[in-house]
Amino acid sequence: MGASSLQELFEHELGDIYFAEHRMVDAYEQFAANTNDQEVTELFEAHREQVGEQIERLVQIFDTMGEPPQEEECLGIEGLLDEYSEFEGEDPDPSALDLYNITTAGKTQRYEISAYESLVEVAKALENEEAAELLRETLDEEKETLGQLQDQGATFDYGSIPT
Ligand SMILES: [Fe+2]
Repeated sequence: MGASSLQELFEHELGDIYFAEHRMVDAYEQFAANTNDQEVTELFEAHREQVGEQIERLVQIFDTMGEPPQEEECLGIEGLLDEYSEFEGEDPDPSALDLYNITTAGKTQRYEISAYESLVEVAKALENEEAAELLRETLDEEKETLGQLQDQGATFDYGSIPT
């Protein structure tokens, strides 16, 4: 698609993150199913529920423009999840996969944080305050989740992975 105006760029980026969030619902379910640590499983499940609310906010934002929600294939998220599937498919040691769940989730959170930061700025430039506010809410949630993942990574028992 040719994004020739700021409005079109906004809609393109919105469609991109709308696609990405849908992929993340399944991804967080997969991370949770592949994790042996109860606390981390709960973190993944909690964020999975939050993604549902984030998708609802995106629908509301499309609504502020009188547009139906539309997905644009997001190669960034797909690439990260493809790498995950590749590693998972190699029958990894369960502890290694435990760690990889956390780090992959962290990578996707960073991607989303960048996307939402940019979307907030574009919404402000378009003077769509309602959209900017909704996007800020999600951005805060994404940052909080990244922080929780970083805490889990910092306390991870690397000694549990065979060398
Ligand atoms: Fe998200």
